[in-house]
Amino acid sequence: MKKIVIAIDGLSACGKSSTAKEVANRLGYKYIDSGAMYRAVTLYFLKHYINPVNPKEVQRAMDSIDISFVFNEKIGFSETYLNGLNVENEIRQMHVSQKVSEISAIGEVRKDLVRQQRKLGKKKGVVMDGRDIGSNVFPDAELKIFMNADMDIRAERRQKELLEKGELVDLPTIEENLKQRDKMDSERKENPLIVPEDAVILSTNFLTLEEQVEYVLQLATEKMIEH
Ligand code: DC
Repeated sequence: MKKIVIAIDGLSACGKSSTAKEVANRLGYKYIDSGAMYRAVTLYFLKHYINPVNPKEVQRAMDSIDISFVFNEKIGFSETYLNGLNVENEIRQMHVSQKVSEISAIGEVRKDLVRQQRKLGKKKGVVMDGRDIGSNVFPDAELKIFMNADMDIRAERRQKELLEKGELVDLPTIEENLKQRDKMDSERKENPLIVPEDAVILSTNFLTLEEQVEYVLQLATEKMIEH
């Protein structure tokens, strides 16, 4: 069977990453969390007090940033590294979530990360999740999925994830952050979050993770046979 590119886009906290990771593991594909890349850049900007409206400063920062994914055998998944440091937990914290949509709307940031993402998917055999993967990073992806879920379900999911990482945040604060990010990610000028024309829509309100994974695997298998 031929290797394909699977693009999974959608709103925050509707189960994209968990589904994408598991699909990649079962197919023996590479998983790339493009949101983690935008989060790592945001963490760097916060730590180094980069002025996001100064293009020269932004470009200098981008030239100093190296993002990589390193497989952790103990947990069975890759973790995000920023300039050699494991930042997997820190990039999920609220202070990063509150800034990430602003930073990911910057043209220079997107140009740089999209170039890296295309390079990572060049050999196919990749599952990448994000906001513009099917519409912009890989417009020719063989399989495009667009995931969504209701706000209350997404907020509870995110609260549980944060709690597992030791951060207790109340639901209204999480909902507010998700709403703001939905708005900014969908309304930004460059590569906004849209539903790609040829995407399969997957609403996860009433599905378990296993059901989501099975569904995507079934579609992927059909595409792998076709191609
Ligand atoms: O998937 P996530 O919630 O971890 O993504 C964090 C932010 O990164 C999201 O609010 C917008 C940005 N992002 C983006 O602009 N383009 C992508 N392909 C992935 C994420």
